[in-house]
Amino acid sequence: MDAAVSLIIPTYNERENIEPLLQRLGRVLSGLNYEVVFIDDNSSDGTAELAGSLADKYPVRVVVRRDKRGLASAVVDGLSHASGDIIAVMDADLQHPPEVIPSLLAEIENGADIVVASRYVPGGGCQGWSRTRQLISRSAILLARLLLPRARSVKDPMSGFFMFRRDAVAGVPLSPTGFKILLEILVVGRHMAVAEVPYTFVTRERGRSKLSARQQIDYLKHLVSLMRRTGEMARFIKFCLVGGSGVGVNAGTYWLMTRVAGLVDSLDVLAVAIGIEMSIITNFILNNYFTFADRRQRGVKAFFGHLLRFNLVSLAGAGIQLGVFFILTRFIGFEEPYDIYANLIGIAVAMLWNFLANNWWTWKPLKN
Ligand code: GDD
Ligand code: MN
Repeated sequence: MDAAVSLIIPTYNERENIEPLLQRLGRVLSGLNYEVVFIDDNSSDGTAELAGSLADKYPVRVVVRRDKRGLASAVVDGLSHASGDIIAVMDADLQHPPEVIPSLLAEIENGADIVVASRYVPGGGCQGWSRTRQLISRSAILLARLLLPRARSVKDPMSGFFMFRRDAVAGVPLSPTGFKILLEILVVGRHMAVAEVPYTFVTRERGRSKLSARQQIDYLKHLVSLMRRTGEMARFIKFCLVGGSGVGVNAGTYWLMTRVAGLVDSLDVLAVAIGIEMSIITNFILNNYFTFADRRQRGVKAFFGHLLRFNLVSLAGAGIQLGVFFILTRFIGFEEPYDIYANLIGIAVAMLWNFLANNWWTWKPLKN
């Protein structure tokens, strides 16, 4: 008989945690038709053998992969071995308390497609984390939220503890690297309703963490790959191309004003100002109909409202460029001839600011 709920649990050298985990799951889920699918990457400590030997006491299935392909890919493989229509993913080391599962299930029964056990909603938290680990976790979340609009649907897109309806990923190709499979499901999945339930990520009592610098680099690669797959990378490139075209408009306007329209010498500053505003306007139009075409709002009011925002963002961007230039040349020692680089760095920082601010304010993503 198929299980109603399948728990996919990736393991790598978690021998000491297997039995305590199965006991606690058994207590919490008694009366529920569930199965545990361990996806083991050929642990050297006998994790898979031990889990297999417990199959007569607990509803356990063990899949051993011969080469170590990582946590997120283990979850994806687990999907093809799980029989349930409702899938839960959690770690084997009991840092994800099994007692949270019933509240996850309740949200699914209430109509959620995905429920995240979250450290970052009221009532949730992390036990015994150093400041550094907290900072890394927060920064990773911030980065995802800045670069991937759909990652904003939850406060903790990095959680490794979540539940979803299988339909939410049916037919969606998943190709994760590293640890962060939830992020990928949120960003490319077909779900509509997302819920979050607080939980406390508790300290590990047995065995060792496998998180290393390697996973952090994998995470950055994963972000870039998700930006590609969701079109956000293309958006960024379009934004840069439009910015480049603005430089032409800016300089061309100055030329027209002074050489063709014959603006007198003393009014050259006015020609510069007109050039700046002209390029802001053409950049805005190109971004509105090209870079952010999918988020463009119709109507004259929206057009001018967005144009105003775009102007304000550009003004702040100019301030940022000036500020960076000032700091680099006056305090960091970028003196001539390196002032050229100071200015280029200022331009790059301002460009990034312009992209992010317009992405999140001028052309706010529509709710998914
Ligand atoms: N199959 C397989 N292959 N499993 C792995 C691998 C691997 O390469 N690496 C780790 N695991 C298993 C571990 O055995 C454990 O059950 C689970 O994945 C989590 O590994 P930990 O090493 O304990 O990770 P963590 O505690 O630092 O990070 C966890 O918590 C974070 C915060 O919720 C992970 O779940 C992260 O994804 C999560 O963001
Ligand atoms: Mn852990």
